[in-house]
Amino acid sequence: MSFTPAAYPAIRLRRTRASTWSRAMHAEHRLSPADLIWPLFVTEGKQVEEPIKSLPGVSRWSVDRIVERAREGVDAGIPCLALFPNTQPDRRSDDGVEALNPDNLMCRAIRAIKDAGLDVGLLTDVALDPYTAHGQDGLIDEAGYVVNDATVDALVGQALNQAAAGADIIAPSDMMDGRIGAIREALEQEGHANVQIMAYAAKYASAFYGPFRDAVGSGGLLKGNKKSYQMDPANMGEALREVALDIAEGADSVMVKPGLPYLDVVARVKDSFNIPVFAYQVSGEYAMIEAAVAVGAGEREALVLETLMSFKRAGCTGVLTYHALDAARLMAR
Ligand code: PBG
Repeated sequence: MSFTPAAYPAIRLRRTRASTWSRAMHAEHRLSPADLIWPLFVTEGKQVEEPIKSLPGVSRWSVDRIVERAREGVDAGIPCLALFPNTQPDRRSDDGVEALNPDNLMCRAIRAIKDAGLDVGLLTDVALDPYTAHGQDGLIDEAGYVVNDATVDALVGQALNQAAAGADIIAPSDMMDGRIGAIREALEQEGHANVQIMAYAAKYASAFYGPFRDAVGSGGLLKGNKKSYQMDPANMGEALREVALDIAEGADSVMVKPGLPYLDVVARVKDSFNIPVFAYQVSGEYAMIEAAVAVGAGEREALVLETLMSFKRAGCTGVLTYHALDAARLMAR
């Protein structure tokens, strides 16, 4: 008797796809609102909403209205919000010292959401770009080079300032060497042992960040680029080294950023390390989907859910996305 490998017609992979119930039963991944982290932009004032032109559908909100957004997110099942401040121009300086002000916009937003008693995690970005007059994520020397170690000292101060205000997850997005270990040590010493660190571990020098820089008001200020610290899109091995180092330095979870063009990195990180991996579907990716919808190139709900599913399939524990509120509401239907 010779062995015949099972093949058509005994095997028809279309059988399990033939009905809605069967597709539901065989789905390998599922989306839920708990997969989502919702980035929100904060601005000065009261009862303010400032739409962001390059991010249609996304606005900056004053602190009072951020609390309303937070409540909407919680009601939709979103477990965590990522906050970004649009610092007033007169509070930006070369040393970005406003990042250390306990009453800066970020800290006031953190406290307002916590004071509202909402059961939601607050993830706060650590990097100096919303506070510097030159738009770089760190301190620069005379040549404009972002200096590493002095920047790390400033980032430690920024992280402690956010933790003291009530941040739950510190998310360094600056890509300086050694910052995760330095921040972890400072958090332990200052009584913030349970404050998590989500490291922007593999963050690429990407053309997809443009609308975000508009949103936090740093785009027009930035001279040059961020290539001396953000990674080359050509590199995979370096991403794995970055992740390994951040884990060794004490990161609780790691992030890959941007998202869709880097799903291969997500998958490699997930396969290589036993650690929660998040992806940031960044502003330019959001804008691309909205632009496609605006010209009739696709259906919004389907594009949003399909791209989010791709993150799950690649191995993500969760995704930061500007579509979070809409997506969470769609998932609940
Ligand atoms: C700042 C920061 C950036 C983003 C998150 N944190 C921009 C940058 O590095 O220039 C981008 C997010 C997005 O594009 O949605 N360090």
